[in-house]
Amino acid sequence: MTMTLLDRARGEPVVQAERPDSDALLNIKLRINGRDHRLALDGRTTLLDALRDHVGLTGTKKGCDHGQCGACTVLVDNRRVLSCLSFAAMNEGHDVTTIEGLVKSDGTLHPMQQAFIDHDAFQCGYCTPGQIMSAVACVHERHAENDAQIREFMSGNLCRCAAYPNIVDAVNQAKVQMKEA
Ligand code: FES
Ligand code: FES
Repeated sequence: MTMTLLDRARGEPVVQAERPDSDALLNIKLRINGRDHRLALDGRTTLLDALRDHVGLTGTKKGCDHGQCGACTVLVDNRRVLSCLSFAAMNEGHDVTTIEGLVKSDGTLHPMQQAFIDHDAFQCGYCTPGQIMSAVACVHERHAENDAQIREFMSGNLCRCAAYPNIVDAVNQAKVQMKEA
């Protein structure tokens, strides 16, 4: 039963959505950063919430939760995805990469992570994981050939601190190293 604004105006009691019981949970296996994770999730759980609340990978950020800011960007099979708009269950059988997965096992940062540090491409840092994941994909997509292209293809990632010029510089540095690697 759905509560409408008219019901609310009439003072009708608010009907709480029923919480799913454990029998209603989906058992799914997600491959994240090269490791399998078996999870029991409500089918409505987004990939973003699965990562943060069920796997403990909090590097991926929740900004708008509505597909508008890019803070939640992850890679799925090396393509960028807004994890707040993707149900976790839809990603079973795919390779999910988060910001934590870019670091090598010996602790060496990905060239894009290092470039963001080198160019001071952040202030508060909240948008940064999403910016970096998007930037990595941008280079792989060959959409980072010049400044205008970088700005265009990174335009889905908003930065309230307006670190955009330094982000472009960081992408320009990292793309050279990524092509050499
Ligand atoms: S949190 Fe996903 S686009 Fe803003
Ligand atoms: S560094 Fe603060 S929102 Fe981008």
